[in-house]
Amino acid sequence: MNKKIHIVAGARPNFVKIAPIIWEMDKRDIPYELIHTGQHYDYEMSQVFFEQLGIPEPDFYLGVGSGGHGLQTGRILIEYEALVERQTPSLIMVFGDVNSTMAAALVGSKLHIPVAHIEAGLRSFDKGMPEEINRVMTDHISDLLFITEAVGLRHLRNEGIEKNCHVVGDVMIDTLAHFIDNALDLRIWERFGLKSDGYCLFTAHRPSNVDSRENLLKILDILKQIDMPVIFPVHPRTGNSIDRNGLREDFESLAGLKMIAPLGYLDFMGLVAGSCLVVTDSGGIQEETTYLGIRCLTLRTTTERPATIEQGTNSLCGLSVKLFTEALAAPFDSESYTPPPLLDGHASERVMDITTSFLG
Ligand code: UD1
Repeated sequence: MNKKIHIVAGARPNFVKIAPIIWEMDKRDIPYELIHTGQHYDYEMSQVFFEQLGIPEPDFYLGVGSGGHGLQTGRILIEYEALVERQTPSLIMVFGDVNSTMAAALVGSKLHIPVAHIEAGLRSFDKGMPEEINRVMTDHISDLLFITEAVGLRHLRNEGIEKNCHVVGDVMIDTLAHFIDNALDLRIWERFGLKSDGYCLFTAHRPSNVDSRENLLKILDILKQIDMPVIFPVHPRTGNSIDRNGLREDFESLAGLKMIAPLGYLDFMGLVAGSCLVVTDSGGIQEETTYLGIRCLTLRTTTERPATIEQGTNSLCGLSVKLFTEALAAPFDSESYTPPPLLDGHASERVMDITTSFLG
């Protein structure tokens, strides 16, 4: 195939998802150009993922950086539109639900270049989340929709999106399946004085949870309920807010809690896989723990990934201490657990089979 595909990524979760697609394109000799919008730019939010996942250097770096939604989205629109006009890709592939996803999809759609959305159809039905706006917008202007779990197809149909919808599973799990042994081999928990299966991993970065002092205090109350060591790689947004709200001392002095800098992919997934409990507000980690069969308590009231709840690995607690302690006490049999069949490590093959036939 000689049609050139644009792969657009900008934020940390995107990098994990583009890796297996790039392996698959390389295997099939499909020409592509990789565009990094620059939404995330710190070494540990971006480059470390390229290094550890073997992702090639981006062909183009838009350097948009941080800012309000309008500024960030607007910069991507301006920069990426100019690039697309010069490079004339045959298809633009976007991933997940970050601002870079929606902005790049909009460029493609306005310039009449087909857009493929990987991770289509997910809905939390919470319009307060910027990601939900990005998901809905991106799906409605995409030409090829790759869905991670069956319910996504129903959501798209309900919104009148009928054509080119394919349930393929989650490419992010392809990456995890590929790297899990390397990640475990690092025994990263030992570096932090932890015992395998004897600690909890905590992450939080959703604006609705971490931007206000009130909610940071609720998070502290929740963390106090956990009766084992807790390790907390701190997202820059969260670290900034903890400092701005004068709560650094309160977090650092919490017994059993260890705050560390954000980790690269292998270290982070090694830490997830070695834990016996994950507490998070991330979307992707809900799914990664469902693949690994690790109990995940999610500090949100909604999820766009209901299969994680049906599987029994995930529970939604919001910021309620009561819901959290109830979920913490609920039994979970990890021994007899099996992950959902679509999380099989082959989603990117299915994506590329369909994409090549779409492009003819
Ligand atoms: C973004 C995504 C979110 C995703 C998350 C993963 C949107 C709307 N949100 O949220 O869906 O789950 O990425 O991390 O796209 N910052 C740094 N260094 C960086 C990047 C960001 O310090 O390399 C700080 C800046 O202060 C910035 C803040 O983090 O203002 C927020 O970054 P931004 O990309 O706007 O959103 P995230 O919270 O990272």
